[in-house]
Amino acid sequence: MRSRRAKEKRKKWTYSVIVTLIGLLLIGSIVVVIWQKNKVVEPNTEIVHEQPTEKLEQAPPKEVKEEPEVLDDNGYVEGQELPTEPTYIKDILIASKRYPLPKTFAPGEQPEARKAMDELIAAAKQRGFTLTAFSGYRSYDYQTTLYNNYVARDGKDAADRYSARPGYSEHQTGLVYDVGEVGKEDIWLTEQFGESEAGIWIRDNAHKYGFIMRYPKGKEDITGYMYESWHFRYVGEDIATKIAKANSTLEEYLEIK
Ligand code: DAL
Ligand code: ZN
Repeated sequence: MRSRRAKEKRKKWTYSVIVTLIGLLLIGSIVVVIWQKNKVVEPNTEIVHEQPTEKLEQAPPKEVKEEPEVLDDNGYVEGQELPTEPTYIKDILIASKRYPLPKTFAPGEQPEARKAMDELIAAAKQRGFTLTAFSGYRSYDYQTTLYNNYVARDGKDAADRYSARPGYSEHQTGLVYDVGEVGKEDIWLTEQFGESEAGIWIRDNAHKYGFIMRYPKGKEDITGYMYESWHFRYVGEDIATKIAKANSTLEEYLEIK
């Protein structure tokens, strides 16, 4: 009787153990499945983050290709049209074969240049030279007439070395003078003026009044024009002094071509 009860008790205990074990196994399996699931999802999410769809959809930036400047035999940019605005570099108005002025640019003679030229002429007088600024501001139309006359006389290639095409002349800025000595008109606009005492004086002193000899000897490749001992451009005393002391040109000072 006793052993039968004990037997049943053992049987019950064995069942409980089995049921508990099965339960534990089930719970364990569920935990493992959920854990595995999470493990798989995580890297997928990361991969999605690593693919910036926006970037892929964006069009690649367009390359801006600037047409290279092609110069004609006389230093002008082929096919160049006159601009609608003048060019200032480091606050300096530039007019050259590369940097033309608008056809409509007509500032007239600039008072600060006139004042400085009067002072220069007065200083030269003190040294015994009677200088005169015989050509200053030129309109676009006047430069057209001058240039066409030079082309008719000497041909285009020769004219392009000493006369600016309309829209390209520094005289159109109102900041420029051609200077000569009164009584020596025969050497105006010639190299000889640069060799005369008056020409040497102005070459060595113009910067004190804010002027530079714009087309110095040996700089044709840089300025685009042959030596002009008579053509002076007002840039202000500081810049003129820097350019003169460095035996330089406006192009070199501005670091342009
Ligand atoms: N002689 C200079 C270059 C001009 O014509 O402006
Ligand atoms: Zn000139």
